[in-house]
Amino acid sequence: MSLSEEQAASLSAETVVVAAGRPARRRDEPVNPPLVLSSTYFGTGPLSDGDRGYGRYSNPTWDPFEEALGQLEGATLPGLLYASGLAAASSALSLVPAQGVLVMPTHSYAGSLVMATELAEKGFLELRTVDITDTDAVLAQLAPAGGKAASMLWLESPTNPMLGVADIRALTAAAHQAGAVVVTDNTFSTPLVQQPLSLGSDVVLHSVTKYLSGHSDVVLGALVTSDAGLRATLLHHRTIHGGIAGPFEAWLALRGLRTLALRIERSQASAAVLAERLSTHPRVGSVRFPGLATDPGHERARAQMRGFGSVLCIEVSPVEGQHGGLSGADAADRMIRALRLWLPATSLGGVESLIERRRRHVAEPASVPDNLVRMSVGIENVEDLWADLERALATLDG
Ligand SMILES: Cc1ncc(COP(=O)(O)O)c(C=O)c1O
Repeated sequence: MSLSEEQAASLSAETVVVAAGRPARRRDEPVNPPLVLSSTYFGTGPLSDGDRGYGRYSNPTWDPFEEALGQLEGATLPGLLYASGLAAASSALSLVPAQGVLVMPTHSYAGSLVMATELAEKGFLELRTVDITDTDAVLAQLAPAGGKAASMLWLESPTNPMLGVADIRALTAAAHQAGAVVVTDNTFSTPLVQQPLSLGSDVVLHSVTKYLSGHSDVVLGALVTSDAGLRATLLHHRTIHGGIAGPFEAWLALRGLRTLALRIERSQASAAVLAERLSTHPRVGSVRFPGLATDPGHERARAQMRGFGSVLCIEVSPVEGQHGGLSGADAADRMIRALRLWLPATSLGGVESLIERRRRHVAEPASVPDNLVRMSVGIENVEDLWADLERALATLDG
């Protein structure tokens, strides 16, 4: 372990992303952890806890990333890497007992919602979806009078793609009172912007695919907890269900993590500038971004985040004119096709700015407006990003 728990706690997160997860300081040790490609390990005697044994149980290339992520989230234990964010979600959902109640945001990431819905349809659990920004509504679902109390509260804040902000502290406290375990998807914020464990959550989930690795070149997920019992259960699930990370992906993710602080600093600042400018653009009906003082989640975000993230959403206005004009969705598609710098692609959190109309995904719920465009702001020059947007929006004028 290159940084002790105490050292990591005394350093700023900007330093921990660089210093954590390094090999021991011994003469001629490499300064970066090596990539270990082996599906098995030498051994003769009976396997016990801590033995590497086999490539599905452990890999030395996972360890430094897991250590660094655990320290960044303020956990007392290393994180657990998975093959994808959804492999991590599947492991987290395994904590719900048979026929237990899962309370989940109506606007969670669509893949997590599909997974939970399918489990509910098979009768494995009872799913209650709720507007996560409405604290009273969530409380009512956690412990309904005369009804079954929840086994798990799933939080995502800000939500993907509606950017709704949950009161994580109040909801986790109520969930614990009801006897539920709380899992928070922290993909949009990263531990540099929000630390759900310090707000009371039991387990933090990441799509490492996004900001943590940061270059749109790997698919990975992770869970982090300070609860040894929960971690053992999750580790067992990962080992037996096999949703493990490839060593090369893990190595790339740590390489990406080294620049997380710089990337977040730049992309958050640019997102704030773009949100302000878009909010007064005549072709934009509304902007969702918790950093705007007018956003319904602004005060909550200020209370529990260090910054507001770098994803924002706009609703493109319909265009009136000859031949019936354009619906908001068609106007959004035309604007996106006219962009030259922003990349029309799904996903988020990479160095490059990505944009997409979310309802092009059939799994996206109909409550997401069909003209809603999600923008993941990268680290390019903000004036170049703005010029591209302005020019593309101007193509709707005539
Ligand atoms: C908030 C959030 N959680 C989880 C996931 C799933 O992650 P992955 O695509 O790595 O499986 C995504 C993917 O977009 C996401 O945006």
